[in-house]
Amino acid sequence: MIRSLAFCAVLSANVSALPIVPAPDKVEVTPDAFFRLTPATPVYRSGIGPALPGYLVEQLQHAFNLRVAPGTGQAPKGISLAVDVDADMGSDYVLIVSENGVAIGGNNEEGVFHGIQTLLQLIPRGPSPDGSFHIPACTILDTPRFTWRGLMLDSSRHIQSVAEIKTLIDQMALYKFNVLHWHLTDDQGWRIEIKSRPKLTEIGAWRVPREGIWWSRPGPQPGEKPTYGGFYTHDQIREVVTYAAARFIRIVPEIDVPGHSMAILAAYPELSTTGGPFTVNPGSQFYNTIENTLDPSNPETFRLLDDVFTEVAALFPDPYIHMGGDECTKKFWEADPDCKKLMESENLKNTGELQSWFVRKVEKIIQSKGKKLIGWDEILEGGLAESATVMSWRGKDGGIAAAKAGHPVVMSPSPAYYLDLYQGHPQIEPPTYGMARLKDTWAFDPTLPAGTDPKLLLGIQGNIWTEEIPNFRHLQYMTWPRAFAIAEAAWSKPDPARDWNGFVGRVEAQFRLFDSLGWHYARSIYDPAVSVSADGKTITLTPEIGGLEIHYTFDDTEPDATYPKYAGPLAVPPGASSLRTRTYRAGQPVGRLTWIAIRDIASEKRAP
Ligand code: ACM
Repeated sequence: MIRSLAFCAVLSANVSALPIVPAPDKVEVTPDAFFRLTPATPVYRSGIGPALPGYLVEQLQHAFNLRVAPGTGQAPKGISLAVDVDADMGSDYVLIVSENGVAIGGNNEEGVFHGIQTLLQLIPRGPSPDGSFHIPACTILDTPRFTWRGLMLDSSRHIQSVAEIKTLIDQMALYKFNVLHWHLTDDQGWRIEIKSRPKLTEIGAWRVPREGIWWSRPGPQPGEKPTYGGFYTHDQIREVVTYAAARFIRIVPEIDVPGHSMAILAAYPELSTTGGPFTVNPGSQFYNTIENTLDPSNPETFRLLDDVFTEVAALFPDPYIHMGGDECTKKFWEADPDCKKLMESENLKNTGELQSWFVRKVEKIIQSKGKKLIGWDEILEGGLAESATVMSWRGKDGGIAAAKAGHPVVMSPSPAYYLDLYQGHPQIEPPTYGMARLKDTWAFDPTLPAGTDPKLLLGIQGNIWTEEIPNFRHLQYMTWPRAFAIAEAAWSKPDPARDWNGFVGRVEAQFRLFDSLGWHYARSIYDPAVSVSADGKTITLTPEIGGLEIHYTFDDTEPDATYPKYAGPLAVPPGASSLRTRTYRAGQPVGRLTWIAIRDIASEKRAP
């Protein structure tokens, strides 16, 4: 059945008709028809092992408290999961829901897995009065746009538990992400056990405990005990890799060198040019005053990296190892006589070329472990290593330059794909820097320009830097909903007619799913952007999404739906010190009570 449909069906692309993120390729809804999912619904399988039916049974129980059972045979009124290697469907998966059952057919098990994720999003949050869950009848054909659909998790600045990382992986799987780039080392903590170099975690994994604004925290005091931190053992890493692989998610480990290396230097001060001693940084200011770079002129640097990459390569089956390479301060190399000698003997004109020399040495080490090198776009400076793949973060320029030179590229540019930035007015949101509202992330075009080979764009990635993300609850708040927009750009074909309101409607359906799962997300789209005219006299409120009523006041009381409703730019009353707003939809409050001092309004720096 799936085969004939795949060949014959001409389906409309009404992608917003169903509450699915990322939007599937082709969707056809059968009006007024549905499948009744009940605990008696069997799950059949054909051409696949028991793992995926088992996974679906587990998810139905977990998300909907529905205890279905695996069935045998191919009777109707069930959910059938099948791989049909002969089908040549031209799609990753096909999902057909009719009154008689649900059929998911994949080109392979990964395709079936993706079809399961779509199905999970189609199931309503609660049963109908008849006790069954009504899944809308539809036919979906779906295929991914990019092969690299990533999120980067920074476990150095703040560490997450294995259970929390598994939750993030579950969330990623639901939205068809397939790469978790794991940032395991930085100035603020070394998080991966290296058995041949135990000092990396005995010393490098721990810093003095601090709260407060990142980069403004007090530095370590003499004799103070480093008690914040931790690291992942080999067993824990294998557990995470296995868990992710069962959800068709690769893990790309990052060891960030030669900069961002203060945790290494805390353990091995002899690998610096200045000699130390060093402490793992707790979020205090140090750039250009305390060294955080490895000394390229010391052969022991590369012996350590060889030991590290030996164990990293054995733990992570992915073909790639990320070597960082970003934001390497050159000041200490420039001042070091041994680095100068090395540059003379290797005929390197500047420290940019010295960094490139360093990257090429690391490239050889990584290749000697059977792996491929990927790095942040600074690895272009001074000449790109031959086999390197570039991850573009300083906008798209590095990615474009790499593609022009024939190298594969992953686009993860700031600000659009930086999930650590503000997603609403800085006076409302927890402290961070920069701005990427959901609409900014959604509207961003990650593609390469004309004249470059589009096949070199492997895909895209959102980055969860955790300097200002001290706990997993807040990590979810910063990741979602912006990662929905990244998932959609990564998976769905570019659609010139794509529609912001339709996307928001599908995002709100995910909010309801997150609510039912006890997961967290930001509701910042319900708060208006607030901007002030250049003369400071007029304030404009811009709702990010449609259908909101904004009630406001300048009188320092708490607005509710009886307060004035915003209908256009507001004159700031003489003497007003603050503006408070709250948004409503259909009479119900949906936004937060916002409270912004008039003098701070301009800090969003956003044109209305
Ligand atoms: C980066 O944000 N330093 C890659």
